[in-house]
Amino acid sequence: MAITQEDVLRALSYVEEPDLGKDLVTLNMIEDVKIDGLNVSFSVILTTPACPLKELIHNACVRAIHTMVDKDAEVNVHLTSRVTTARAANAAVLNGVKNIIAIASGKGGVGKSTVTANLALALARTGAKVGLVDADISGPSMPTMFGVEDARPHVFQTPEGKNLIQPVVQYGVKLMSIGFLAPAESAIVWRGPMASSALKQFITEVDWGELDYLLLDLPPGTSDIHLTLVQTVPVTGAVIVTTPQKVALADAQKGLQMFRQPQINVPVLGVVENMAWFTPAELPENKYYIFGQGGGKALADKHEVPLLGQIPLIQSIRENGDLGTPAILEPGTGPALLFEQLAEELARQVSIRNATQGRTQIVEMTS
Ligand SMILES: Nc1ncnc2c1ncn2[C@@H]1O[C@H](COP(=O)(O)OP(=O)(O)OP(=O)(O)O)[C@@H](O)[C@H]1O
Ligand SMILES: [Mg+2]
Repeated sequence: MAITQEDVLRALSYVEEPDLGKDLVTLNMIEDVKIDGLNVSFSVILTTPACPLKELIHNACVRAIHTMVDKDAEVNVHLTSRVTTARAANAAVLNGVKNIIAIASGKGGVGKSTVTANLALALARTGAKVGLVDADISGPSMPTMFGVEDARPHVFQTPEGKNLIQPVVQYGVKLMSIGFLAPAESAIVWRGPMASSALKQFITEVDWGELDYLLLDLPPGTSDIHLTLVQTVPVTGAVIVTTPQKVALADAQKGLQMFRQPQINVPVLGVVENMAWFTPAELPENKYYIFGQGGGKALADKHEVPLLGQIPLIQSIRENGDLGTPAILEPGTGPALLFEQLAEELARQVSIRNATQGRTQIVEMTS
């Protein structure tokens, strides 16, 4: 008997998207079903190109067709993606940006900027459209980490007469940093309100175009800048970076709790434990827990959020950051693999958040 479209869809309705807990047909993830004799082809529209479950979903689809339709079918699964969003359509700010992710830490120097730069590049390498705002306006590090210290973004006028900044594009990521407007040596001291309005401009008056993910590298602590941010754009979720050290964890917890305050209510997507251990190149089997062990996991567990990943202290991560060529740019190396996995985990949590939690909102504060 000839295979029909209904046969194929019925079989695929038994394939579950493990993270979202529903089947692919109910989730509208199946498109372009084509049947030609024993040749069955269709597209699976994943929620992110960085989906860590690609292979699993692919295999489950093939198995479903073989067991429920025809064991001799020649199955061709085309995996593609459309990044999901929790934003309302036609938003007033950053309308083309699907997901805005804040990277925060509490304590300074734990590796937020390093993690953010590598995450942005890892996401971009999967095919996602990615932007990055260096929101650390008194200590910008992205121009150095991306090797674009001398770049100066252009400002242009839109047909409506509005001035927009053209972001600097490096390694496929759109970048904005105060470091592009003022040389690194000229320590500008931004006072509270000025810092906040500069940051607002840096995010909203930029020609981002269409983006799947806009990452915001925040300054340490829980400052005015953080409040400005959540009052300026609807933040999809926050990522907390910490080292396993006790003092870092205490500050990370404060950062995490800030996002969770009822008035702010930004979902925490997970914790990244950076500098988790040190392994010397000459003793690759050894792990030295310089800053303590298991702290990131304990923090994540306590607040019931995922531990997105652990990144060890690796000399090349520091060196590549200083050279302006983040570690992720050398595929196949240990650090690149770790950051790829971290990016997949983050993208996965964004997808889950978008499927299970409410619309992102700009925070309104009365006092
Ligand atoms: N996993 C790592 N392995 C080795 N060096 C690292 C690692 N993560 C970060 N570093 C180094 O640690 C230093 C601090 O990192 P980074 O600037 O990313 O931290 P930060 O949290 O953004 O700091 P700040 O709070 O000042 O913004 C940098 O020199 C960076 O190269
Ligand atoms: Mg930083």
